[in-house]
Amino acid sequence: MKVLVTGAGGALGREVVAHLREAGWSVRAFDRTPVDPRAADEVVTGELLDAPLLERAVDAMDAVVHTAAIPSPNSAPHDEVFGNNVQAAYRVLDAAGRHGAGRAVSISSLSALGIAFSAHGVSPHSVPITEDHPFIGDDVYGLSKYLGEITAGAAARRWGTAVVSLRFPFLGTGDRLRQHLARVHHDPAFDRGGLWGWLDTRDAARAIGAALTAPLTGHTVVNVAAPDTSALEPTAELLRRYHPETRLDAPLEGFAVPFSTRRGRELLGFTPLYTWRGRQPA
Ligand SMILES: NC(=O)c1ccc[n+]([C@@H]2O[C@H](COP(=O)([O-])OP(=O)(O)OC[C@H]3O[C@@H](n4cnc5c(N)ncnc54)[C@H](O)[C@@H]3O)[C@@H](O)[C@H]2O)c1
Repeated sequence: MKVLVTGAGGALGREVVAHLREAGWSVRAFDRTPVDPRAADEVVTGELLDAPLLERAVDAMDAVVHTAAIPSPNSAPHDEVFGNNVQAAYRVLDAAGRHGAGRAVSISSLSALGIAFSAHGVSPHSVPITEDHPFIGDDVYGLSKYLGEITAGAAARRWGTAVVSLRFPFLGTGDRLRQHLARVHHDPAFDRGGLWGWLDTRDAARAIGAALTAPLTGHTVVNVAAPDTSALEPTAELLRRYHPETRLDAPLEGFAVPFSTRRGRELLGFTPLYTWRGRQPA
């Protein structure tokens, strides 16, 4: 089975390419950042907004994993973040459907709720946050990811492709994860907007593998996060301190992450392996 992975030269994309090849997929890796040719079965270097190049790249693929995006509102001018992320999502998912790919996995973000980068420090209406929580944001990155999900739904309806939008929290492993944990432990306000959700990048790649084969049709949005937070303080205490207006719909014991991860377990059969509190699996 052949899969096109966009953003294959990025932090997540590299893990995804390695994981999918290990799982037996033949991977065509696409990025404007050159990918090591030994890392994939085929490499396409270029711009997703280059229509003829994208058409050729999507051709004859059984599935597409779309990870390419500018992953924050602060790493490029706002109109570039919007233009790149929204256009790339439309073009990749539309081309995937038109070329007959049966499955697409589109990488969204828990930022698609609009809380993570809000200029006004908004709080969720309720926790645990399910996939039905409305978009309440004002930042360009969250907006671009939210529009990416709407685009995914339209592509699924138009072409009959089964599309899964995965909402990830902060992703990291190794030094990047250690630095993030150190910042949160120094001051939990640092990740108030992310509600202390996190996921090891290797687990994100595993979730994508599960989303490629889970028995689904239409468009499905799925929260994916580690079961615990990145913080040292109990979740209920953090919520009382930093999100006092938020309604508690179910008890959050200990360090439980305030996002519902039920769909990931029930629809994808996915449970994270990696934890920072205990021993890492080999
Ligand atoms: N990093 C996180 O903590 C995090 C959290 C949640 C969701 N996400 C999402 O995960 C995905 C991957 O993020 P990442 O951290 O690996 O980012 P990254 O910047 O490391 O990788 C993104 C890759 O996409 C490529 N790219 C972007 N636009 C492109 C275009 N128009 N044409 C060709 N290539 C293009 C870049 O060259 C880059 O290699 C993104 O969709 C991001 O929104 C990331």
